[in-house]
Amino acid sequence: MAYIRVHDKLFDPFLTQEEIQTRISFIAEQLNTDYADKKPLFIAILNGSFIFASDLFKKLHIDAEICFIKLASYKGSKSSGHVVTAIGLDNDIFDRHIVIIEDIVDTGKTLTEFLPQLRHQQPASLKIVALLHKSEATIHPVPIDYLGFTIPDKFVVGYGLDYNGLGRNIPEIYKVVE
Ligand code: IMP
Repeated sequence: MAYIRVHDKLFDPFLTQEEIQTRISFIAEQLNTDYADKKPLFIAILNGSFIFASDLFKKLHIDAEICFIKLASYKGSKSSGHVVTAIGLDNDIFDRHIVIIEDIVDTGKTLTEFLPQLRHQQPASLKIVALLHKSEATIHPVPIDYLGFTIPDKFVVGYGLDYNGLGRNIPEIYKVVE
């Protein structure tokens, strides 16, 4: 694979379709075991996770539900800082086994702000599956229970991830050339 251009940046090949699918199959097998008979509800966080969520969900052979939400961040009062609200979470999560599907955990800020809201609704359990984790970029540690790949602190595109709106439809994952 050669490098590609998205907007003004060049990106190098980083993860192939095969590497991604092999890893997702491995995670799916773990979930098939861990959630057999638990009828989990997967909550995929849009936009970035839509392709990952789709491929992962197809590999699950258990009874499971999925819903898609969008997190909107706005600046609250000074004391509360940024407030994250979930758009589209219509399901009652009380006493349900919940698995969050996230494309990439970078600083950890998004999930750190969102998880307490879910815990407040008293799910039976709450776990996180993330395809990518930039461990060096962590500011707010997030407990990732099922992880695809730990990656360097470099900007990536493809497989659902965008650079200013473009690149989501690239089947592989590419890393920025610096
Ligand atoms: P966090 O709150 O810093 O963990 O950021 C998580 C969100 O930032 C992800 O869900 C992505 O939407 C976005 N993001 C972080 N790093 C990248 C990247 O390298 N490429 C594309 N999007 C990214």
